Amino acid sequence: MSGGAGKSYVVEPVTQVSGSLTVPGDKSISHRALMFGGIASGSTRISGFLDSADCRATLEALRALGVRIERTACGEIVVHGAGVGGLRASSTALDMGNAGTAMRLFMGLLAGQSFDSTLIGDESLMRRPMERVAEPLRLMGARLDTEQGHPPVLIHGGSALRGIDYALPMASAQVKSAILLAGLSATGITRVTEPAPTRDHTERMLQSFGVELECSGAGGGGATVSLRGGQRLRGTALTVPGDISSAAFFIVAGCLAAKSALTLRSVGVNPTRTGLIDMLRLMGADIEVQPLGGAGSEPMADITVRASPLKGVVLPEHLVPLAIDELPVFFIAAACAQGETLVTGAGELRVKESDRLAAMASGLTATGVQCELLSDGIRIQGGGLRGGHVHSHGDHRIAMAFAVASTRASTAIEIDDVANVGTSFPDFPAAARAIGLRLTERAG
Ligand code: S3P
Repeated sequence: MSGGAGKSYVVEPVTQVSGSLTVPGDKSISHRALMFGGIASGSTRISGFLDSADCRATLEALRALGVRIERTACGEIVVHGAGVGGLRASSTALDMGNAGTAMRLFMGLLAGQSFDSTLIGDESLMRRPMERVAEPLRLMGARLDTEQGHPPVLIHGGSALRGIDYALPMASAQVKSAILLAGLSATGITRVTEPAPTRDHTERMLQSFGVELECSGAGGGGATVSLRGGQRLRGTALTVPGDISSAAFFIVAGCLAAKSALTLRSVGVNPTRTGLIDMLRLMGADIEVQPLGGAGSEPMADITVRASPLKGVVLPEHLVPLAIDELPVFFIAAACAQGETLVTGAGELRVKESDRLAAMASGLTATGVQCELLSDGIRIQGGGLRGGHVHSHGDHRIAMAFAVASTRASTAIEIDDVANVGTSFPDFPAAARAIGLRLTERAG
């Protein structure tokens, strides 16, 4: 992480936002494009790659594993794939920084290699649970050690993996993806069933690389995905759509204060990621989604938002995994709505970059919002916020969520410890100012 943990934002109240913005590339898709390109045969050309700290961690780890990666003059990334069995041991521990996706997907990718690997991360990542991935990988025959469930993760090479039939205990795209990646170097069929639909970028992208997989039963419950081990990936060309998780901050800003209109361009609208739009519409939001020609297997759209009165809701739990990273900013919308909002079934928020339920509850309380923290959710009394001093807990999404709250705050909001915004949205301050937020950065 760069920039010093003490960096802060001061955001003065505004009553209006407008204009149009293109948000940076999708983080989940950028990680996967690099990794799958790294184990493909032939080259993979990636346009729209998210050049953020998290994705750079994946890029540097792949280089340490012997993959050659270039940046072209026009900003594309070219990955010269080493093939599924072509990675080589890194001479040092692989540092995943703040990136949970990188660590968990690398666990799956490295479990079937012939060499040992060690995965480490920053302070936040070193506290996050890794047994949810290690356990199913051990069932496949892999040998991994965690430290009481947390990183560092030691992966012992040379294990012969076999396919398993695994029912995920939690709705997690990272765990699903790690198992499928390990399945590529396993014998037989690897089959994963999720309890509820989660983002399916791995399934879509593996197919773009020529991997055959079967998906069945998606809908109310989650899907079952299966693949046969030993398949090769063929290098390809990929376009990364704008990250809906970054657009989310401006979608909420627009719902609260776009008196004319605010448009977010070329945003990825994979239906496993658009839960926030459904949630805000339940509250009465005016959001228009205009589909564009696709970015390959990932749908894209322009999203136009206009301010409208929002009302509190009891959030249907099935929407939670479809908006898992957008819940912090959804809580800001709830704080500005009329009436009460109740969110349950969101216990996974406690094991993200921070305990996002606790971090949001303390930030909302600090800005004058009445809320009750529940074990797996939160109850928020709407009606608006005053200003105040908020701690982001070093969590990018908490920091950006409170910046958006300035559209309804009565005085300035000061947000501490914002350097981590660089993990997902390095240009957030400039983008926020471009739509009319009055955000100043202060060095730590
Ligand atoms: C991600 C999956 C989600 C999400 C994370 C990115 C991915 O995590 O919160 O930011 O790229 O697969 P879980 O799978 O742990 O829910």
